[in-house]
Amino acid sequence: MNVVILAAGMGKRMQSALPKVLHPLAGKPLVQHVVETAHSLGAQHICVVYGHGGDLVCERLTKACPDIPLNFALQQPQLGTGHAVQQAVPHLGDSPLTLVLYGDVPLISAQTLQALLAVGAPDRLALLTMEVADPTGLGRIVRDQGAIRRIVEHKDATPQELQIREINTGIMLIPTAHLGPWLAALKNENAQGEYYLTDIVAQAVAQGLQVASASAQAEFEILGVNSKQQLAQLERLYQAHQAQTLLAAGVTLMDPARLDIRGKLRCGRDVSIDVNCVFEGDVELGEGVQIGANCVLKNVSIAAGAVIHPFCHLEGAIVGAGALVGPYARLRPGAELAQQVHIGNFVEVKNVQIGPGSKANHLAYLGDGEVGARVNIGAGTIFCNYDGVNKFRTVIEDDVFIGSDSQLVAPVRVGAGATIGAGSTITQDAPAGKLSLARGRQVTIESWQRPQKKPKA
Ligand code: UD1
Ligand code: CA
Repeated sequence: MNVVILAAGMGKRMQSALPKVLHPLAGKPLVQHVVETAHSLGAQHICVVYGHGGDLVCERLTKACPDIPLNFALQQPQLGTGHAVQQAVPHLGDSPLTLVLYGDVPLISAQTLQALLAVGAPDRLALLTMEVADPTGLGRIVRDQGAIRRIVEHKDATPQELQIREINTGIMLIPTAHLGPWLAALKNENAQGEYYLTDIVAQAVAQGLQVASASAQAEFEILGVNSKQQLAQLERLYQAHQAQTLLAAGVTLMDPARLDIRGKLRCGRDVSIDVNCVFEGDVELGEGVQIGANCVLKNVSIAAGAVIHPFCHLEGAIVGAGALVGPYARLRPGAELAQQVHIGNFVEVKNVQIGPGSKANHLAYLGDGEVGARVNIGAGTIFCNYDGVNKFRTVIEDDVFIGSDSQLVAPVRVGAGATIGAGSTITQDAPAGKLSLARGRQVTIESWQRPQKKPKA
């Protein structure tokens, strides 16, 4: 199958320098949703018709979808949807069918497109249509005794035709062999002076071809984005849909209206998610995981029974079974917590593997290193990993106790069972099983007197 994605419109009403189809919905450019859906259907040739914003659309898409082969066709100037598809024709493969999609209709689903593909054939035009409550502005499907005869645009319709509530979503499946000749025959004698793709329907009918239709599963799938208001509405509809899918799968959501998923969220049984959480990229929550209010999780995997307390920011991290994180903790890429690890408030972990049962409960920076099992890291501990140019590792073996307010100046190793006295600046390896201290000795100055303020006259 060939796919043509129309994305040349300028999107003036977005009031933005960014081309419309690059505005994000659920964290991803509108047109990227469409490209990925087309790819998931096994499309061999995907051609994106671009115009306004020019090369940026090509650049961003190529970068965002490195594994999807894409062609691009420039449409300049924009003379209508029929003219747009015409620009793609030289880039199409020889598949018998060509599917037309829209870069600003991001939520069209693979299931709905499968239903359209199911009624398509090399000698049949297939339209995706839908009965809507308010068809204002949209093309109407004109039928005669049930059979589709043509599409009339809102601006060209008679008062009688305006009563029709079955609308053209714009998405259609076209026999590739007919596409070139049909497009070449289009005229722009209409209210907008445009070459309408929709006029190929009347041509198909005149040539005795069948015109079939399928309808979309949900109305949000066919909604287009023309303004920031519509973008915001579609974002909410999509998030509500995702929340309902999670609820149906047994996830507890404290408020389905206060959840944002910008990517993929997979949940085991009995997961519960409190309000105002944002999930980005690929997130996996194991059985019984609890996520507190106001957490942001990006590309993380959290094993069974772990609890993330409120106000945590986790990115590129792995959290082991039964671990406790937060409140107010930050896990950065490469943070790997084994089972039963505790990371408390105002603790930042980056690129450190932490062994089972170890704890850093308050105010610490753990960057670039390795921590064994059953280690206790006191409040205020810092891994000094950076000399301004290079990064070095801190290694802490099993059963170590790091006293509060210690600095471990990497590269450094603390042997198994060692204790570091509070307030130490450790610059050399600390031997196993011993107490190491690195701080000034306490002295008392017997003769010292505190200066006195002179009483004001
Ligand atoms: C089109 C359909 C209408 C349908 C509606 C659904 C036509 C003539 N009409 O109307 O029947 O109900 O979509 O939303 O097709 N585009 C280009 N190049 C152009 C013109 C448009 O790439 O020269 C792209 C736009 O960026 C947009 C899409 O095609 O993504 C639709 O264009 P638009 O002008 O919005 O079509 P409508 O008038 O809404
Ligand atoms: Ca138009």
